[in-house]
Amino acid sequence: MPNITFSHPDYKDKTVYAVAGSHTETILKIARENRLPIQFDCQDGECGTCLVRVTHLGKTKPKGGPLTVKEQTVLQELGKLTADEIEQMSVDDFPPAWRLACQMIVRDEDLLVEYGVN
Ligand code: FES
Repeated sequence: MPNITFSHPDYKDKTVYAVAGSHTETILKIARENRLPIQFDCQDGECGTCLVRVTHLGKTKPKGGPLTVKEQTVLQELGKLTADEIEQMSVDDFPPAWRLACQMIVRDEDLLVEYGVN
């Protein structure tokens, strides 16, 4: 089970265990279940309110991709994803740091999720 550490500039970090591989456990869902105050609105990858910065911990290759076109579009509109990073995602299968918490599915890897830092 992965450890997910949520970090906010104004709050103490909180590490929670997550169930990986269900294809339904998003970062936002886990945050809400653990009463972490990540901002959100649409919960459908359209508004960008749930923007977080994700750092993959450990020595394995990050597993966070692929991003949907919807998530890519919103991240680009927010200025958090460049055309070069989209190219890197498709060539190297390497997810970007900025993600939408309502769209990112948790895999079996430890993560640092920073919210309130945009
Ligand atoms: Fe709107 Fe995640 S809550 S994009």
